[in-house]
Amino acid sequence: MIKGFLFDLDGVITDSAEYHYRAWKKLAEKIDIKIDREFNEQLKGVDRMNSLERILKYGNKENDFTEQEKAALAVEKNDDYLTLIQLITPEDILPGIMELMNKIKEHDLKMGLTSASKNAPFILEKLGISEMFDIVVDPATLSKSKPDPEIFLKGAQLLGLEPSQCIGVEDAEAGIESIRKAGMFSVGVGDEVSMRDADYRVETTAQLDFDKIMAAAGK
Ligand code: BG6
Ligand code: MG
Repeated sequence: MIKGFLFDLDGVITDSAEYHYRAWKKLAEKIDIKIDREFNEQLKGVDRMNSLERILKYGNKENDFTEQEKAALAVEKNDDYLTLIQLITPEDILPGIMELMNKIKEHDLKMGLTSASKNAPFILEKLGISEMFDIVVDPATLSKSKPDPEIFLKGAQLLGLEPSQCIGVEDAEAGIESIRKAGMFSVGVGDEVSMRDADYRVETTAQLDFDKIMAAAGK
């Protein structure tokens, strides 16, 4: 029986995935690497340093920087990202999300945040929805990035639930893999290709419907 939901943040609750993309693109251009939206699908859900490594590898520059230089590049990207997210307001909650969260609460189910982003608590504050979450997994406590299941397993554990009692909601390929490996029912938001492994898929958050998801998950 389903007793809780675990949500990704960037690209599911708000469109901050777009800001991550813009900040990485700017940083990549600075070091002569061109990235596009197709490549960006491989960055979604992946933590900061691993995202940088993937970009460097894509540009055949994985051996061009010292660890210290890489750390500085990551800081530069994050500073840029922080500038972009300052202006987030509750109006930036994606369509359908508030309705879904309200239904989860009405049904007395638990709710947790399983985002790889160290900026997630700041964004939840900006959106005005921090209090809706029973738990927020701190990515600093994790040793492995999505697609490893660690983050979703930790989320279930913090909620006091078995993985099989949780539904995970994601927009990233790595995120869906993480949910599935954790043994949870996965809800994917996105196109058929990137969400091909999701147990249940919607094209956009506006189509997220509590009753349909619960029926698909077999309750
Ligand atoms: C994930 C995003 O939620 O968080 C990734 O999908 C991002 O794009 C990752 O790299 C880490 O975020 P941050 O804010 O800690 O750099
Ligand atoms: Mg995401």
